[in-house]
Amino acid sequence: MKVLIHNSAELAQQAVADILTARILAHPASVIGLATGGTMEVVYDRLIRAIAREAVPVRDLVTFNLDEYWGLAPAHPASYRSYMNARLFGPAGIPLERTFLPVADAADPAAESDAYELRIREAGGIDLQLLGIGQNGHIGFNEPTSSLASRTRLKTLTQSTRKANQQYFGADEATPEYAITMGIGTILDARECLLLATGSNKAEAVSRMIEGPLGAHCPASALQLHPKATIILDADAASALELREYYQHVHPDGIDRQPTHG
Ligand code: PGA
Repeated sequence: MKVLIHNSAELAQQAVADILTARILAHPASVIGLATGGTMEVVYDRLIRAIAREAVPVRDLVTFNLDEYWGLAPAHPASYRSYMNARLFGPAGIPLERTFLPVADAADPAAESDAYELRIREAGGIDLQLLGIGQNGHIGFNEPTSSLASRTRLKTLTQSTRKANQQYFGADEATPEYAITMGIGTILDARECLLLATGSNKAEAVSRMIEGPLGAHCPASALQLHPKATIILDADAASALELREYYQHVHPDGIDRQPTHG
């Protein structure tokens, strides 16, 4: 794992936007795995600005999102389809027909999950997968005890995830109980993974992901198995890391000085 610790959330978010921008400039036909959540909002703002400023070509991109709530119409304002259209695809001019999320109102979630896996394979696999992390260590909606070999499927959300996401729903509206999510095995198949975590509420999950034992209780710890995983943190999210000084010594100020991954 490459652990890059930035002094502020803004610098960490900018670093992720810069990596995405550089990747798309170098390979405009990339297949990018995308994430949602509060953490990515600023990243997408910065990316949209870079795309406009640097005339980054986006018409040949293909994107696959990690997950989508089950049973929510895509047009619902809290669906991840709505989030992505409003926060990235529309403003960046990414053709919607090249953007994929699990279809959450499909009649058969198992068939939709298999079809999603097939769509990813037919696109040639994911080149770079962007990830956030939940306070419970989830990646995508792979909640604790998800199989480390899991593929795209329907998952029951934990109460803590539902509570964290309640803010995106109306006061009188229940947060969905289920989601279709890429599996951990699906995520590990990406050629490169890039995870961003900011804020002290992520510090414990981050330490379990990077320094804890590999195990389904912290799904993000599966990234320890990935040969090319980069973790970008702000100081608060890095605050519980035992080997923080070592990571800072290897990459002062979060600057990526080494081409290799540990
Ligand atoms: P957040 O979600 O960015 O809203 O904290 C991250 C996640 O649950 O993966």
